[in-house]
Amino acid sequence: MPCNSKRNIEVCFSPALTGHYGITEKNVVLIDILRATSTICTAFAWGVKEIIPVASEEEALAYKAKGFIVAGERDGKVLIFADFGNSPFDFMNDKIKDNSVVFCTTNGTKAINAAKNAEQLIIGSYLNFSSLANYLENDNHDVVLLCSGWKNKFSIEDTLFAGALCHRLITGEFFETDDDAAIVAVDLWNNTKYDLLSYVDKGDHSRRLKKLGYDGDIEFCHTFDKTDKLPVLSGETIINL
Ligand code: MLT
Repeated sequence: MPCNSKRNIEVCFSPALTGHYGITEKNVVLIDILRATSTICTAFAWGVKEIIPVASEEEALAYKAKGFIVAGERDGKVLIFADFGNSPFDFMNDKIKDNSVVFCTTNGTKAINAAKNAEQLIIGSYLNFSSLANYLENDNHDVVLLCSGWKNKFSIEDTLFAGALCHRLITGEFFETDDDAAIVAVDLWNNTKYDLLSYVDKGDHSRRLKKLGYDGDIEFCHTFDKTDKLPVLSGETIINL
């Protein structure tokens, strides 16, 4: 791709649609604002060595039996055998420093599986927003913003983040879009960004997390630039780029 032509950006609303985006040639940003990708960024900010994402509880249990630190949830509830759950606050401790953590969540770690053939799979959240946007601008690939959603269904919070990032990139000099999903995501972001959490609270998962007492997680996961870490998939594990 001549470096003077603008790169394209698309938004994929569900991991179930990933096969339609030609990801082997593109950078894919994995989005699971509530909470998996926000938590992964927090873990690297607190010095984790690597995150080992697994899709099934059986895989996580097998790692636990081998003595690994395991974190995870199902439907927001902490896995019974896990050392801790999927709240970013669970990872703000020295136990994870320079350690490997096995990670198993309802949607985020499954979405990693759906996109592992990407040119590069990058973990995106509001927490590492600027370092993510700068990286994408300096790397010469088209981009797909992949929303993890909820059990393959559309999610408000992931789409809003996709809109925020897409808006940041297409108002810069390196990206453009002709993708309907991206255009809708940007409009949703521009129409709600001044009262973001009120709109996020309309969402199914925000309600679920509030019922479980994770109100603090929702606010924290919508905080910009808490870290400059850039977690990426490298083989079967996630490391900081
Ligand atoms: C997920 O991966 O499904 C979410 O991060 C669920 C959660 O909030 O823990």
